[in-house]
Amino acid sequence: MAETYKIAVIPGDGTGFEVVREGRKVLDAVAARFGFKIEASDFDLGGDRYLRTGEVLPDSAVSELRGFDAIYLGAIGHPDVKPGILEKGILLRLRFELDQYINLRPVKLYPGVDTPLKDKGPDDIDYVVVRENTGGIYTGTGGFSMKGTPHEVAVQSMVYSYEQVRRCLKFAFEYTRRRGKTNTLALCGKTNVLTYVYDLWERAFHEIGERDFSDIKREYFHVDATCMWMVKNPEWFDVIVTGNMFGDIITDLGAMTQGGMGIAAGGNINPEGVSMFEPIGGSAPKYTGKNVINPLAAVAAAGMMLENLGEDEAARAVEQSIMKVTGTKLASMQAGRMGYSTSEVGDLVVENL
Ligand code: IPM
Ligand code: MN
Repeated sequence: MAETYKIAVIPGDGTGFEVVREGRKVLDAVAARFGFKIEASDFDLGGDRYLRTGEVLPDSAVSELRGFDAIYLGAIGHPDVKPGILEKGILLRLRFELDQYINLRPVKLYPGVDTPLKDKGPDDIDYVVVRENTGGIYTGTGGFSMKGTPHEVAVQSMVYSYEQVRRCLKFAFEYTRRRGKTNTLALCGKTNVLTYVYDLWERAFHEIGERDFSDIKREYFHVDATCMWMVKNPEWFDVIVTGNMFGDIITDLGAMTQGGMGIAAGGNINPEGVSMFEPIGGSAPKYTGKNVINPLAAVAAAGMMLENLGEDEAARAVEQSIMKVTGTKLASMQAGRMGYSTSEVGDLVVENL
């Protein structure tokens, strides 16, 4: 009997609906071709629901989501909702509660895609960032004292346990081995200033690497230098592992070098639980409902989801098709400039599968 995957779909806000629609089109086509089934259930979560009912993410939805094989997310962020409410209340809460402790973000320049990096091509820009996804400043405690007075103090602490660091590094080493490109894992930190937190990361990195992954070469870069080399010599990188905050920042830089938010995808992964896949761009209110947004990031996220479900061949087929479409069809990755509408780009991916 054909394998059936239960997928929770959260279109979310804005252009999330349009890009997820194209991703599902591709998922259905690839499932038919490779002989498995996708059973999708939609979840109404996002700004519209919040404005209608005051609910951001009911506890019942979180427990329901635990019963799925994966979650497919469009975009979170609504122009009429104060920044932070939906991002923290939906996206971050799901990452934390479902313990999706890895944020996997490939930085790969597909053929035919423009990069702002002069003289760099697809052979140069092809690495993966493993961002720790449930700790650091994102979950460290903090607060204000004497708020609103000239003596106000604000604190937000970067907190990492050895266990959080260990499991992230273990994933990164194993991922580097599986990827098999140059067998090199780079730690991105700031050991010259954050002499506690990144000292812990660096000690654990070498300890675990030496003990369990002697076949993987280890490198270290400060985060500022990492940004420099991502622009100047991206070909140096194979896999980069880093904490939550640095990972957030360097992956936006990486996304721009691979053609922008229209193409960059990511996975929030719990290797032992339910993972969630998303295009890493926002909800793009300006383009909402116009059928002009680039759906390829969402399609690529669907491809990552297939790989996570163990459908490697199907995942490869999706990526190959995206590469054909960027290499031979699209004029640009930018919304409104692709030379095709959102739904036509989805159709092109399906045709080239
Ligand atoms: C991302 C986003 C989120 C983050 C925001 C929306 C909370 O920037 O997925 O990178 O900071 O992780
Ligand atoms: Mn970000």
